[in-house]
Amino acid sequence: MTHKILLTGGAGYIGAHTFVALQAAGFSPFIFDNFSNADKDTPERIASITGQTAPWVKGDLLDKTAIERVFADNDFDAVIHFAAKKSVADSVHRPLDYFENNCVGLINLLEVIEKYSVKTFVFSSSATVYGTPQRLPIPETATLSFANPYGFTKLVGEQMLAQISLAQPELTVGILRYFNPVGAHASGLLLQAPRGNAAPPENLMPRMLEVARGQNPYLTVYGDDYDTPDGTGLRDYIHITDLARGHVLSLQNLLQSGEGHTVNLGTGNGYSVLEMIECFKKVSQKDLTYRIVPRRAGDIASCYADVSLAFALLGFKAEFGLLEMCASSWNAAQM
Ligand code: WQD
Repeated sequence: MTHKILLTGGAGYIGAHTFVALQAAGFSPFIFDNFSNADKDTPERIASITGQTAPWVKGDLLDKTAIERVFADNDFDAVIHFAAKKSVADSVHRPLDYFENNCVGLINLLEVIEKYSVKTFVFSSSATVYGTPQRLPIPETATLSFANPYGFTKLVGEQMLAQISLAQPELTVGILRYFNPVGAHASGLLLQAPRGNAAPPENLMPRMLEVARGQNPYLTVYGDDYDTPDGTGLRDYIHITDLARGHVLSLQNLLQSGEGHTVNLGTGNGYSVLEMIECFKKVSQKDLTYRIVPRRAGDIASCYADVSLAFALLGFKAEFGLLEMCASSWNAAQM
């Protein structure tokens, strides 16, 4: 019997890659997405990769009747919750949008999940719940805080789930803390930056792609005065297909054990902005002009994962390195 899995935000960058990995692992994934940050043809792109249809429904988590309808029409064994606004900079400017979309949306979803007795839930969290880390690499037991409204909504989501799990012990919750997802499926069909009208993500990789494709004259490097080897920000970049595989392993563990977990999904390695630029220049054979400007509000100096629990509990270890991450992003950007 194949497990039917609802992917809220399943047409997005991480959702679509996870959809492909889930189907390859024998699950039956289903997309619920408002397509505010996803290309409309993503289900067709997924289908051309997998050779199977990618079932989907357009809907918004702020429309509770839409959530009810999709649960009334389908018998889900689990939910993986990706649907959330995720821009740090945008959240600083529009915190209320993030509180409504990410927190109220989660509450609406959890109320419907309770009504339809779905017992397994995976929450897309983020390393931003560590705020400014006290030690590196960062273990899951590190002190939690937030440095911006986006990180606040992720921390609130985790805390709500902890309280709900106490009240509903039959609900098994997996919390996955992503570090910096980059790269693309080898087909080049699933992108980090949607082609549509969504605001382009302000993340490093999409910005480097814009320069390499001549859409911007130079890359803005936010600060070179951090306490890092070359002064620029250090992050744990993880290939999106590794991240997607981490979701499959998490879901399999939750379904088999009935025990919840909170796990970092990273590589355990930190790379600086200048290292990323050099790697991307090598891969793209493009000269990546950049300008150093002051630090960006909400940024921290260094962030990379302690990945020992992911390996011990899930057998997860990232397989792709920086070259493959940059090469797959560059490949997809040229499709
Ligand atoms: C990486 C580094 C920037 C753009 C955020 C969220 C995280 C996740 C990923 C959702 C930093 C520098 C960036 C640019 C730059 N979000 N940079 N010039 O902020 O580490 O993480 O996105 O899944 O939860 O917190 O990612 O790619 O924006 O920045 O110099 O044009 O690149 O200062 O050091 P970030 P990022």
